[in-house]
Amino acid sequence: MPSARPTFDLVVAANRLPVDKVVTETGETEWRRSPGGLVTAMESVMRAQPGAWVGWAGDAGDAPEPFEEDGIHLEPVPLSAAEVRDFYEGFSNDTLWPIYHDVIVPARFHRDWWASYQTVNRRFAEAVAEVAAPGATVWVQDYQLQLVPALVRELRPDVRIGWFDHIPFPPVELFAQLPWRAQLLEGLLGADFLGFQRQADARNFVRACRQLLGAATKGDRVAVDHERQVRAAAIPISVDFRGLEALAKRPDVRARAKEIRASLGDPKVLMLGVDRLDYTKGIRHRLKAYEELLLEGRISPPDVTFVQVATPSRERVEAYRLLRTEIEQTVGRINGDLGHIGAPAVHYLHHSYPREEMAALFQAADVMLVTPLRDGMNLVAKEYVTCRYDLGGALVLSEFTGAWHELHQSFACNPHDIEGLKQAILRAMNTPAKDKQRIMRALRRRVSDNDVQRWASRYLAALAAAPERPAPDRYA
Ligand code: ADP
Ligand code: F6P
Repeated sequence: MPSARPTFDLVVAANRLPVDKVVTETGETEWRRSPGGLVTAMESVMRAQPGAWVGWAGDAGDAPEPFEEDGIHLEPVPLSAAEVRDFYEGFSNDTLWPIYHDVIVPARFHRDWWASYQTVNRRFAEAVAEVAAPGATVWVQDYQLQLVPALVRELRPDVRIGWFDHIPFPPVELFAQLPWRAQLLEGLLGADFLGFQRQADARNFVRACRQLLGAATKGDRVAVDHERQVRAAAIPISVDFRGLEALAKRPDVRARAKEIRASLGDPKVLMLGVDRLDYTKGIRHRLKAYEELLLEGRISPPDVTFVQVATPSRERVEAYRLLRTEIEQTVGRINGDLGHIGAPAVHYLHHSYPREEMAALFQAADVMLVTPLRDGMNLVAKEYVTCRYDLGGALVLSEFTGAWHELHQSFACNPHDIEGLKQAILRAMNTPAKDKQRIMRALRRRVSDNDVQRWASRYLAALAAAPERPAPDRYA
C-alpha cells in the first residue's frame, strides 16, 4: 500500500521555493537562499506557522523529494529545461513581466510559451491539491501562477483559495495586449480573494474584468456568476521589522558596518543601491544622475562614493543580458573618467550576500538610492529604514514603487527626471541631521506598525472573510 502523504491546513504555492538547489563545480549539491522579495517576505511568514510550500527548486530536471527546511515543509515541483526556457524565462519574464511593468522593454508573445505556462500551472495546481488538507487554505503567489487558482478550484472545491500579486497589475490598456488576457483573468477569478500591493493595482484588475470579460463589478468585487463573487483589495507587503532590526543591532553586524566604511576610505557620504539586476530598478538612471553630479563638481570621490550591489537575475533573458552589459560599461566608463587610484567613483558588486552583510551595508550607507521605474513594492526601501535604528541615513525613493505610497516622508524622486533625481540626492545629503532623524523616525514607525506578520494576518483574515455568494441585485 502506498504510504499516505502528509497534508497541511496552509499551503503556499510560489514559483520558487525559499531555497535554490545549486550543483557546485565539484558535483556537490548545495541549497542557497532564492533571490527576490517574495522569498524574503514569505519565508518569515511561513517559519512562524505550520504549512507546506510548493515551488520550483531552481534547476532543470527531476524535482528533489519533499523535505523540511527550518520548520517549513517544502514540496518541489519539477521544470524541464524546455519549461525553464518557455514557462519561466519566456512567458513569465519576457511576456508578463514587461507588460506588468509599463512595457519598459517590449513584451514578446509566443504561443508555445503560453502552452508551457498552462502545463506548468496545471502541475503546480496538482501538487497543491495533493498536499492540501480538507478545507485547507491555499495561498498562491505572484504572476507566474495566475492560472493556479481556477485549476485548484476545479481539483479541490473544498479549499479556500487566495492569490497575492507581488508586482504591479497593469492598466487595462497594457493588459489588453496579451493574447491570453481572458484566460489569465479567468484563472485568477478561481480565487476567493485577490490581494494587490496598491489600490491602483486592485482597481486595474477589476476594470480589466469589466472591460475584457464583461463581468459585473461593484466597488472591489467582481461577480464570477450567480454563485460567486471575488474581492480584489490592496494589502501591501512588508518586512520582518523586529527580526531584521535585531539582526542590525547585533555587535558583529555593527562592527561590519564600520569596517565597510573604513575599507571605502571613510567617505563623508556613502551612497548605496541594492537591487536584482533588472531594467525595472532604474539603475541606469541612478548612475546617470550620479555621474552628472560628479561631472558638475557638486560631489567628488573620495568624499562621496557609491556602492551598487546588483544581484544576478534571469541571466538568459536577452533584455537582462543587454542591461548587464550596459550597466557594466557605464560603471567602467564612470570609473575610467572620474575615479582616482584607490578611490573609484562606483563600487559595483554583482553578487548575492548573506542577510548579515546586507544589514551591515544598510547601516553603513548615508544615502540609500531606490529609483525603480516601476516596482510592485520594493522591500529594499523598507529593509533600509528597518536597519536604521540609529535614525541615521536618508532614503531617496521613486514615486513609482509601491513602497512610496507608504513612505511619503522619504526624499521622493521621479527617476525619469534626471535633474529632479540629482536634486533629491543633494537634498538627502544636505538636509540637517536633526530633520533627517525626524524623517527616519516617521518612516520606521510606518514599517514597524505594518510589518510582514501584520501583512500576513491581514491577508489571511481577508481570505477567511471572503464572500461566498453575492447578494441578489448587488451588481451593476
Ligand atoms: P524584487 O522582489 O524585485 O527582487 P525587492 O526589493 O522587493 O525586489 O526584494 C529584494 C530582496 O532581495 C530584498 O530582501 C533584498 O534585501 C534582497 N537582495 C537584493 N540584492 C541582494 C543581494 N545582492 N544579496 C542578498 N540579498 C539581496
Ligand atoms: O516579486 C517579484 C519576483 O519576481 C518574485 O516573484 C520572484 O521570486 C523574485 O522577484 C525574483 O525573481 P526570480 O524568481 O525570477 O529570480
